[in-house]
Amino acid sequence: MPILSGQATLAGVVGWPVGHSRSPRIHGYWLDRYGIDGAYLPLPVRPAEFIRALAGLRACGFAGVNVTLPHKLAAFAACDSVDELGARVGAVNTLVFRDGRVTGTNTDCFGFVEGLQNAGIDPAAGPALVLGAGGAARAVVAALLDAGAEVSVANRTEARAAALRNDFPTIGQVVWERRAAALADVALVVNTTSLGMAGQPPLDLDLSRAGRHLAVADIVYTPLETGLLRGARAAGLRTADGLSMLLHQARPGFAAWFGVEPTVDAELRAFVAADLVGA
Ligand code: ATR
Repeated sequence: MPILSGQATLAGVVGWPVGHSRSPRIHGYWLDRYGIDGAYLPLPVRPAEFIRALAGLRACGFAGVNVTLPHKLAAFAACDSVDELGARVGAVNTLVFRDGRVTGTNTDCFGFVEGLQNAGIDPAAGPALVLGAGGAARAVVAALLDAGAEVSVANRTEARAAALRNDFPTIGQVVWERRAAALADVALVVNTTSLGMAGQPPLDLDLSRAGRHLAVADIVYTPLETGLLRGARAAGLRTADGLSMLLHQARPGFAAWFGVEPTVDAELRAFVAADLVGA
C-alpha cells in the first residue's frame, strides 16, 4: 500500500461479512497501477449498523462505497437519488457521496454486458435465456433488454419468475424443466442461479440441443471455470465467465470516486483469479 497524503480519496465496500469480497483487490490494483493518492477498504458493517455506518463514512469524507450483501435493499432506501437503471433493477451496488447527497447506481448491468463483449459475444445477437429469478437475474435481464435482446427466464420456483415478469413485462417465461429444450431457440444462455458455485449442486443443463452459435455465460466465479462453462467450451461454444463481469462492474465506481477510467487487462484478471484458486 502506498503512503497516503492527508488529501487521500477514500472508498470501500460495505458488507457483512465482507472478507470474501474481491473488490479491495480489484480497486487496490488500480490505485497502485495509476499511482492514485487513495485507498479502498473492506468495511464490515452489521445490518443493524448500516445507516449509522453510512452517515459515519460520509462524515469522514469518503467519496463513496460499494454495497454488498446483506445491505443492497437498505442502500437503495438510503439513497437521495437512484439512477434510472438502479431503479429498474430495484437494487444498487455503488454509492457516490457528493455535494451532501448519496446517489446510487447498479453497475452489475454494465459489468455483465462488458464481460460479454470482451468475450466477443454480442448481447443482442438473438434471443437470450436467463436461468434464475433472484437479484442477479434482475440485473442481467435489465442489461439484456437495454442491449436490445429478446429475453426469457426459467426459474425453479415459477412464482419468482412470474414476479420478475411483472417488473419486466416484455420478457417470456420458460418452464424450468424445459430449459435444455429451449436452448435450440436462443443465441445466449446465462446462469444467474447459485448452481455450480463451490459448495452448491452443479447446474444440470444438457447442451446437446444447443445451436453451434449459442454463447454461454455464467455469473458464478468460484470456481472460475464452472461445470457449465467447461461443458460449453468442450462443445466448442463461446463463453463468458463471472470474473469478467466482476472486474468490469467495478469500473464505474472507480471512475466516479477516483477520477480515472480504469481498464481491465490480463494482468488484473490473473491477479484476481489467483485469489480464486481453491475458493
Ligand atoms: P441472487 O440475489 O444472488 O440472485 P437469490 O435471490 O437467492 O440470489 O437467487 C438464487 C437463484 O438461484 C434463484 O433463482 C433460485 O431459484 P428459486 O427461486 O427457485 O429458489 C436459484 N437456485 C438456487 N438453488 C437452486 C436449485 N437447487 N435448483 C434450481 N435453482 C436454484
